[in-house]
Amino acid sequence: MKRGVVPGSFDPVTNGHLDIVQRASTLFDEVIVAVGVNKSKNRLFSAEERLAMLEQATAGLPNVTVDSFTGLLTTFCQEHGAHAIVKGLRAVSDYEYELQMAQMNSSLTEIETVFVPTSPEWSFLASSLVKEVAAFGGDVSGLVPDFVLGPLTDKLAQRPAD
Ligand code: PNS
Repeated sequence: MKRGVVPGSFDPVTNGHLDIVQRASTLFDEVIVAVGVNKSKNRLFSAEERLAMLEQATAGLPNVTVDSFTGLLTTFCQEHGAHAIVKGLRAVSDYEYELQMAQMNSSLTEIETVFVPTSPEWSFLASSLVKEVAAFGGDVSGLVPDFVLGPLTDKLAQRPAD
């Protein structure tokens, strides 16, 4: 039984994330989508909200579960018997940092990282850009699951002005 972990902030989940999760679900017997919770980072959505959105988005993938973690990703992977971390790579610019993290994680617990190339249709997609575009009234439908659109608009409206 091979178990992969797809970690991220998912603030909010995008169709690019879901592309990677769906493809990871064909490579591993079980996939855990792991939401990183770091209180020092200013997130738009709470950990509970990010988890709930991911649960809804992955409901059609029977071998995928969603969980959250604080602290080191490698500790989460050890505690959950994971064989590999799965990361999407959008472009060469992602590679340097992702390679550094993969090597650090490997040096900590010898866990492998599997890089999955992002599908070209999502190669420009990032949660940070989705939030920025939506904050200025741009149309982000088609970039995130439809059920994220309402909560995204509501959260951005509640956010204090700069
Ligand atoms: O979606 P993101 O923001 O790129 O996700 C980053 C995340 C959560 C995967 C990364 O920050 C992480 O692994 N955090 C856990 C803390 C940790 O293990 N740090 C050492 C990494 S080498």
